[in-house]
Amino acid sequence: RLVNMTAMLNKAKEEGYAVGQFNINNLEWTQAVLQAAQESNSPIILGVSEGAGKYMGGPAVVAAMVNALLETMDITVPVALHLDHGSSFETVKEAIDAGYSSVMIDGSHDPIDDNIELSKKVVEYAHPRGVSVEAEVGTVGGEEDGVIGGVQYADLDECVRMVNEAGVDALAAALGSVHGTYDGEPKLGFDEMQAISEATGAPLVLHGGSGIPEHQIKKAIERGHAKINVNTELQQQWTAAVREKLNSDDKVYDPRKVIAPGKDAIVKITKETMDMFGSTNKA
Ligand code: G3H
Ligand code: ZN
Repeated sequence: RLVNMTAMLNKAKEEGYAVGQFNINNLEWTQAVLQAAQESNSPIILGVSEGAGKYMGGPAVVAAMVNALLETMDITVPVALHLDHGSSFETVKEAIDAGYSSVMIDGSHDPIDDNIELSKKVVEYAHPRGVSVEAEVGTVGGEEDGVIGGVQYADLDECVRMVNEAGVDALAAALGSVHGTYDGEPKLGFDEMQAISEATGAPLVLHGGSGIPEHQIKKAIERGHAKINVNTELQQQWTAAVREKLNSDDKVYDPRKVIAPGKDAIVKITKETMDMFGSTNKA
């Protein structure tokens, strides 16, 4: 019942909203974002970094957990299970073989020819299996699960080559966004965004979605972004809620009770974010 993200993103780009990629870390986290999507009647992309995948026991465990939840929670909105920042053909293949419906191959730290060649190889493996592919041109700044990058703006011609030569379904054209927190307002390349969106025709992906103010999110969607990735924001909200629980209740020791407020916090922030992205009621 998992779907890839191609139809989701093409519809979003056409209708002028963005589908959120919400990164997951464990069972309760996954339940929370799925619940939010179902209650918001919104499509959703579950993002799993290589590190988070390992943490949960590997891609096979993640795929089995998600598929089981889709059944037991009666999820009817479109859900994609997406490998976030896949670092090699091998890790991408492992995710596809385990049942992920979508993958990102992040060759952004390699020279562009190598990045395109690797992305093409991934597309050739993924597409016959019904799996969608996202690639990155330029580099997203900051750090996520040990993936470190200085900001490097995507080049228009390289973006066009990536879409035409590799045939990817979505393009993360890095234009100043950063993983983790921002110092002040993000400095996104809105003009470049529009140009890349028009020249490639591909749905664009905005990484580092946490901490970008609403007016910039809206502008990014207007300029071609159909997918926005959010990780840090959920982690911060979860931790704040659990910390508050521990601080306010020194008798609690049942782990289910300790982390229950974290789950509620994720449901709430995910729904608010879906509203902001415009994907509510777009399932
Ligand atoms: O790939 C995941 C995202 O780009 C998350 O970025 O942690 O800044 O929200 P974020
Ligand atoms: Zn990212």
